[in-house]
Amino acid sequence: MPPMKPHLHGRIYNTTKLILLAAIALLLPIIPIYLYDNPYLLPDLSENNPSSFTFVSDNLLPSPSSSGTNNSNETKATTEKTEKPDDDDDDDYDPDDLLETTLRRSCNVFKGEWVPFPEGPYYTNETCGEIYDHQNCLKFGRPDTGFMKWRWKPSDCELKRFNPVWFFKIVRGKTMAFIGDSLARNQMQSLVCLLSHVPVEATYLPNGKGKRFLYTDYNFTIIFFWSPHLVKTTEDRSKGPVPFPLVNLFVDEFDDAWTTQVHMLDYVIISAAQWFWRPSMFYENGRRIGCFACNNKRVRDLTLFYGYSRAFRTAFRAIYGDKNFNGITFLRTYSPGHFDNGAWNEGGTCTRTKPFRSNEKKLEGHERDFYSTQLQEYRTAESEGMKRGLKFRLLDTTHAMLLRPDGHPGPYGHPPEEHRTISDCVHWCLPGPTDTWNELLLHLLKLERSSV
Ligand SMILES: *[C@@H]1O[C@H](CO)[C@@H](O)[C@H](O)[C@H]1NC(C)=O
Ligand SMILES: *[C@@H]1O[C@H](CO)[C@@H](O)[C@H](O)[C@H]1NC(C)=O
Ligand SMILES: *[C@@H]1O[C@H](CO)[C@@H](O)[C@H](O)[C@H]1NC(C)=O
Ligand SMILES: *[C@@H]1O[C@H](CO)[C@@H](O)[C@H](O)[C@H]1NC(C)=O
Repeated sequence: MPPMKPHLHGRIYNTTKLILLAAIALLLPIIPIYLYDNPYLLPDLSENNPSSFTFVSDNLLPSPSSSGTNNSNETKATTEKTEKPDDDDDDDYDPDDLLETTLRRSCNVFKGEWVPFPEGPYYTNETCGEIYDHQNCLKFGRPDTGFMKWRWKPSDCELKRFNPVWFFKIVRGKTMAFIGDSLARNQMQSLVCLLSHVPVEATYLPNGKGKRFLYTDYNFTIIFFWSPHLVKTTEDRSKGPVPFPLVNLFVDEFDDAWTTQVHMLDYVIISAAQWFWRPSMFYENGRRIGCFACNNKRVRDLTLFYGYSRAFRTAFRAIYGDKNFNGITFLRTYSPGHFDNGAWNEGGTCTRTKPFRSNEKKLEGHERDFYSTQLQEYRTAESEGMKRGLKFRLLDTTHAMLLRPDGHPGPYGHPPEEHRTISDCVHWCLPGPTDTWNELLLHLLKLERSSV
């Protein structure tokens, strides 16, 4: 079976010239991700004392649980909160829930518009210590603040605001993993920020490829697994254009940095895309079967979407194929970038300060191909998972994010004196539009909970 619709081969990669253009132009989105995102280079912010944060919605805070976890000193900072312990398991956390759920169930929450949110944002760079510099847009002088003051409004219903109380009620005792590249981490950071008024213990994973957050009050764990290709890779530093060594992509082999941990996960949020622009050599059954933009006439160019579809296929198999996994898997769909007036290396920028309306923008070109390719693999995984009673769900943020050209760091992901010429129009400012990904995630979690 061909990995994708045949027209992709013809349309995008007709000629050698186009292939070269693709190789160069398409590396673009990687630059910010690749150069800035080596997890070894990231500062450890865990020494920031979470209890010193003041959170705008502090009054939403439940008291620490009485479920047997040890309340450390940090926790004491929050004990003046007055709500009763919330270990009852019914759905009283949302009085309107029954009616609401009925309404929302028939509503496509991924279709809608951005509407003003004057009360926003939920947190600031002062209340959350998990914002890395290259997404800390205000710190580096971004003059407009409007990008933090929009909320997603589904056409046919309301999306509830993110409420940490509800969130913790659902996830108590559970482990949630974000698997993917720096955009997966972007969502993880947003979630940690949304929960930043609760004490947390943060540690890097022993292999250096990720980070773990333990909310002892709720025995809830967030893990970020750095796996930008989702499958096993090695790098061939002697080959490929600088600064991107050729990637060997073992499209049918697991990245065991995360696949060995699947059994202990209750929620998996998986995503990937931009790293597949890198020139790659594809291996299957241990044999070289083709490449993408490898500039080697003896190797067939299968396009990047071959590697992309196979990588998702393999990653999903690692999840539903693990007999001890009983959690819910969410595919967070493709996150579009927004380069205006040229590609990333031609001075392309993202200077807009307002979202588009939904009728102003359409998903097209390679972005649509990323989206439809992952959706195709998702559908297969969904039905494979169903055979085992596993739930696969879409966190379909693509349409909403397509409308947010204003949400990227642009030149404000680093100090002005660094004079970097590349604008980061791929990642998202924090606070910013990724906070909506977690509002949507909470919405989906609530639906699951009330669907039994
Ligand atoms: C809680 O921590 C304190 C101090 O670290 C320790 O003395 C105590 O035994 C712990 N309690 C429980 C229930 O683990
Ligand atoms: C709690 O705080 C006190 C004083 O700040 C300190 O001496 C003690 O070691 C702390 N205990 C824990 C469990 O962190
Ligand atoms: C937060 O942003 C402000 C500008 O709004 C900046 O002055 C400050 O240094 C930033 N703080 C942190 C901790 O990044
Ligand atoms: C915490 O959650 C884990 C599962 O994630 C469970 O195995 C463990 O028993 C829980 N511990 C407590 C103290 O509830």
